[in-house]
Amino acid sequence: MASLFLLHVVSLVLLLSKTPMLSASPTSLSLPSVLKPGSSLSVENKDDILISPNGLFTAGFYSVGENAYCFSVWFTKPLADESHTIVWMANRDVPVNGKRSKLSLSKTGNLVLRDAAQPLPIWTTNIIDSKEPAQLVMNNNLYLKNEENQVIWQSFGSPTDTLLPLQQLTKDTPLVSSRSLTNYSSGFYKLYFDNDNVIRLVYNGPRVSGVYWPNPMITAWASGRSTFASRRTASLDLNGHFVSSDSLIFNTSDSENQAVRRLTVDVDGNFRAYSLDETRGIWKVTWQAIADTCRVHGICGENSTCSISPNHGRKCSCIPNHTMINQTDWSYGCRPKFNITLCGNDEDEFLHFPHFDFFGYEARFVPNVTLDECKKVCLGICNCKGFHFNYETNGVFSCYTKFRLLNGFRTVDSNGSMYLKVPKSIRLSSNNKNFVHGDSLVCSEKLPTIRIDRAYEKNPKNESVKSLMIFTYVFGALEAICFIYFFYRTRNPLKTTQGYIQAATGFQRFSYAELKKATNNFSKEIGRGGGGIVYKGEFSNNRVAAVKLLKEFSNHQGEGELLAEISTLGRLNHMNLIDIWGYCAERKHKLLVYEYMENGSLAQNLHSSKLDWGKRFDIAVGTAKGLAYLHEECLEWVLHCDVKPHNILLDSNWNPKVADFGLSKLLDRDGTHNLEFTRARGTRGYMAPEWLFVNHPITSKVDVYSYGVVVLEMITGRSPTGDQSVESKGRLDSWVKEKMIAAGGTNDWIKEVVDNTVVGNYDSSKMEILTKVALRCSEEDKDARPTMSQVVDMLLDNGGTRNF
Ligand SMILES: *[C@@H]1O[C@H](CO)[C@@H](O)[C@H](O)[C@H]1NC(C)=O
Ligand SMILES: *[C@@H]1O[C@H](CO)[C@@H](O)[C@H](O)[C@H]1NC(C)=O
Ligand SMILES: *[C@@H]1O[C@H](CO)[C@@H](O)[C@H](O)[C@H]1NC(C)=O
Ligand SMILES: *[C@@H]1O[C@H](CO)[C@@H](O)[C@H](O)[C@H]1NC(C)=O
Ligand SMILES: *[C@@H]1O[C@H](CO)[C@@H](O)[C@H](O)[C@H]1NC(C)=O
Ligand SMILES: *[C@@H]1O[C@H](CO)[C@@H](O)[C@H](O)[C@H]1NC(C)=O
Ligand SMILES: *[C@@H]1O[C@H](CO)[C@@H](O)[C@H](O)[C@H]1NC(C)=O
Ligand SMILES: *[C@@H]1O[C@H](CO)[C@@H](O)[C@H](O)[C@H]1NC(C)=O
Repeated sequence: MASLFLLHVVSLVLLLSKTPMLSASPTSLSLPSVLKPGSSLSVENKDDILISPNGLFTAGFYSVGENAYCFSVWFTKPLADESHTIVWMANRDVPVNGKRSKLSLSKTGNLVLRDAAQPLPIWTTNIIDSKEPAQLVMNNNLYLKNEENQVIWQSFGSPTDTLLPLQQLTKDTPLVSSRSLTNYSSGFYKLYFDNDNVIRLVYNGPRVSGVYWPNPMITAWASGRSTFASRRTASLDLNGHFVSSDSLIFNTSDSENQAVRRLTVDVDGNFRAYSLDETRGIWKVTWQAIADTCRVHGICGENSTCSISPNHGRKCSCIPNHTMINQTDWSYGCRPKFNITLCGNDEDEFLHFPHFDFFGYEARFVPNVTLDECKKVCLGICNCKGFHFNYETNGVFSCYTKFRLLNGFRTVDSNGSMYLKVPKSIRLSSNNKNFVHGDSLVCSEKLPTIRIDRAYEKNPKNESVKSLMIFTYVFGALEAICFIYFFYRTRNPLKTTQGYIQAATGFQRFSYAELKKATNNFSKEIGRGGGGIVYKGEFSNNRVAAVKLLKEFSNHQGEGELLAEISTLGRLNHMNLIDIWGYCAERKHKLLVYEYMENGSLAQNLHSSKLDWGKRFDIAVGTAKGLAYLHEECLEWVLHCDVKPHNILLDSNWNPKVADFGLSKLLDRDGTHNLEFTRARGTRGYMAPEWLFVNHPITSKVDVYSYGVVVLEMITGRSPTGDQSVESKGRLDSWVKEKMIAAGGTNDWIKEVVDNTVVGNYDSSKMEILTKVALRCSEEDKDARPTMSQVVDMLLDNGGTRNF
């Protein structure tokens, strides 16, 4: 009897001790979340997976290419585009075959991944002392626990590129980005605890390396970091608070809310926090380390520069007389088109590029010099490729001569100029100083696949590749150390930094009473849409503003969240995007204050005599520039999702400014809408066809489509919603195409499609280009549509902005 009682107690204790790890409800025990000693998971069996008791994570073989698998942990539920988000990989750099590969748990508590083709294990937990059996358990973390319930190994201890909530980042567990969106191998960007206890981001490229975050031009202290921590740990909690021992502390924009979160070092070198938007099946960025993406090193390779351009967002361009080495990958950089050596010729000239700098690689630093002296210094150094001439303080300039042109960037904040050495024999046309119109990147849309065809024997080639890779990494690390040392020796610590550290939010906070007074108790309505009504407001200092009352912004969302949302949008500064000045968040009142646009919206002016053809063309170009900037080269930061004439505002000079961008995201947050409603955003007539199909991914091409419709409307004067004009049956683009076909190869269709009520003359060749670009934008097939930056190029190269 007593022994039976004892047995009960023992089993109860055992059960209780399991509870925090397995949440031992009866159903969860039946889920395959545990692998028993002596058993294994096979790559060939799709059901050989472990699922965490809460269902959130799955561990198993993940296909990374044709016949290539990595043992991974991923979020069980796929995203809207059917992709899975990987959080951990055992063998990211060495995928295994799709046949006969196995992950086995030995009787002695070792986990071993074998590829049938290879005699040696591909990966193992290498637990040597453990002589006793252990279980492999999938919870939020994949771990091995022995019979005493001690965790003897865990995937949290060897992260890849992602840190999950409650997972500790330590000095031994850096995060390393993937090589690309489709190649999960170790990439070039690493987040790690440096020797001075500060968390940094380093670019560890094949040929060069360098730390780029926190800003290496200023001390860790000036970046708000502490070097005096005794520990090196950091982690994100479940509510979105990140705390690190080096005093890097931040809250995600949705902190305090419950969300599925992750922190990832992305393939573009930025470190971001994401929360899962479960209704829409997408990850949304809730914090990022670097706002100016050109400050990430290695984005554009040697002899090229990165710029945030008015037309295109982020863009790499070759320096003059250089050409791209690899058309699909900017990280290879550019090589010279000429083969004249630059050394030893006193007659070499310098080309001047204001507001450009190439970070690091100084051959020599000379403080307090004149421009001519600096030129002489550079001419005297054989491998000097140019120099950065920087204004320091009190009328003093310094000279940083460069022996390599790496990490080039353009920024209006920098008060220095770059001078590039060019051989005299190369005649450069003096006005060709535009880095921005360089070659453009071919963004690969098709996902490449890895194919593994391994012979069933050990391949000696792999060994040499491996040792070469190790050599490359060691060499890269050494180079990084030399570079940092060199850098701190040479860089003037007094270098001005005001421009670089900007307050995250420069918005004014208004009180509700103040806005009520300014809008005269919300009496002058000037527009509706985008989830709220817009009123004209006049402040005591005679400043006129547009005040938008966000009526759908749900009541329980706080000031912090509103501020976080608009601060992301507020960083997007572009002359063709509307400026946000401030906000108000008091209880249920949520308001945004924008710059006021004298001429109202394009919708109000479409049929007015003030918009002649010249202005219409400029509006088409300006709107395209604003949208291209939102989409940013290959990254698609912000999709507008509701481009229409009502959201294109016109200032006193009729310059267009796109309004309401990013707001659809802001208004969609409360999650009470059903899936169909949240997907189908935008306005009838302007909405791209892919909105209607649940399985079609939503890309920046939805905005391109809407833009095309808006331009057709500007040309024809016909509304795509088809409720005003009797004639416009069916789609606007089909109507224009019919007229074109009917004209049979002549240009007669132009007369028929253009709005005859518009004053002024037009150049018919330019009208033809504008119409054809608009038709391409409004193609049904999203892949047939150009990108917004291609639209800008087509309109500017062919049309010119003046004298339409
Ligand atoms: C983050 O949120 C916590 C709790 O809401 C607050 O105490 C803290 O000041 C916030 N930290 C930052 C950096 O905003
Ligand atoms: C360019 O880069 C891509 C991706 O890194 C690579 O697959 C391709 O072979 C490269 N092409 C050349 C010509 O080097
Ligand atoms: C960059 O240009 C310089 C000459 O301007 C050249 O010597 C160097 O090899 C180029 N770099 C690459 C990666 O081609
Ligand atoms: C570069 O030099 C090689 C031989 O040294 C020559 O054949 C080639 O034409 C030169 N290219 C240019 C662009 O001058
Ligand atoms: C810079 O050089 C000039 C002349 O050589 C000298 O008068 C001046 O004091 C120097 N300024 C500084 C800050 O060293
Ligand atoms: C930029 O340089 C000019 C001199 O060329 C100087 O007058 C100005 O104050 C500098 N601005 C900053 C922010 O350093
Ligand atoms: C250098 O560039 C200029 C302008 O882009 C061009 O006119 C010139 O022919 C180029 N020179 C060489 C040697 O490629
Ligand atoms: C993935 O990246 C690794 C490391 O850069 C490279 O060795 C490998 O060939 C790449 N795989 C593919 C399919 O491009």
